[in-house]
Amino acid sequence: MVFDLQAGSDENLIVGFEGYEDAAVYRLSDEMALVQTADYITPMTDDPYLFGQLAAANALSDIYAMGAKPITALNLCNFPAEGIPNSIFKEILAGGAQKVLEAGAVVAGGHTIKDNELKYGLSVSGIIHPDKIVLNSGGKVGDVLILTKPIGTGTLFNGVKKGEIDSQFLDAAVKRNSVLNKSASEAMIQHGANACTDVTGFGLLGHLSEMLSSLNLTAEITSSDIPYFEKAFEAAEKGFKPGMSKSNMHSLQSILKFEPSVSEADKWLLVDPQTSGGLMIFIEEEKADALLNDLISGDSPEATIIGKLTEQIDTKILVK
Ligand code: CO
Ligand code: CO
Repeated sequence: MVFDLQAGSDENLIVGFEGYEDAAVYRLSDEMALVQTADYITPMTDDPYLFGQLAAANALSDIYAMGAKPITALNLCNFPAEGIPNSIFKEILAGGAQKVLEAGAVVAGGHTIKDNELKYGLSVSGIIHPDKIVLNSGGKVGDVLILTKPIGTGTLFNGVKKGEIDSQFLDAAVKRNSVLNKSASEAMIQHGANACTDVTGFGLLGHLSEMLSSLNLTAEITSSDIPYFEKAFEAAEKGFKPGMSKSNMHSLQSILKFEPSVSEADKWLLVDPQTSGGLMIFIEEEKADALLNDLISGDSPEATIIGKLTEQIDTKILVK
């Protein structure tokens, strides 16, 4: 039996199931398209308000990765029936609402179900001009790759869970990642980026592979240029790695090569799952400095060039 996941076709569905885009896009008119996404996460901090902020920034991020503007958001709450006071749920929702407000959007409702494991997220709708969508597949030969936030949250979380990394370092990373990708998105649109996605569960290289999937080009990544959260490298050197890092690495094995100089810790951080990670942007080299200046003076002080797109060699991703 063949299942049709998309259930029919519609010419106004500009971005749907196929490919690896961050959000669905539906044309409403020649001037306006609807952008829709949904994402939720489990807690990675003991601070409920901060967790709410992180979950909302994470859900909004797919809208920003397309270059769109968020308009409305619906809360998706999987809350345990027992053991957690109502005041905690209120704090989570208040944190989420604060980020939605900061994004210039509005919380328009939501849905709650009972779940043994607490999860919170949002379904976000945004708008964009149909001709201005920034796909993740638009990279061109010669483009440089810019990353706007450090990486390492999954590895830090793993180290904290095992009692080996002080939770203050994880909380600092969570605070950083709860900063919206809003101004980074606006900057990449303004400077004419060719492609953009956000770094989340598949890690930096996993999401990079999605950007490359329809291109006959190779991405060269310079591992020493990649910013890590404080203590993330130490945690990776101690061997802390989330289960998802292993599946991410496994799924990349046929398209990924590391030069011998790349350390084990660096390799694993490059596939470390991020929660509300930064944007990865392909842009022409001549435009990169102006974009970087705007990113750094905005909300992305760690933004930096981490690689480039070259003619295809024997591997899709080469890490030096
Ligand atoms: Co995404
Ligand atoms: Co997502």
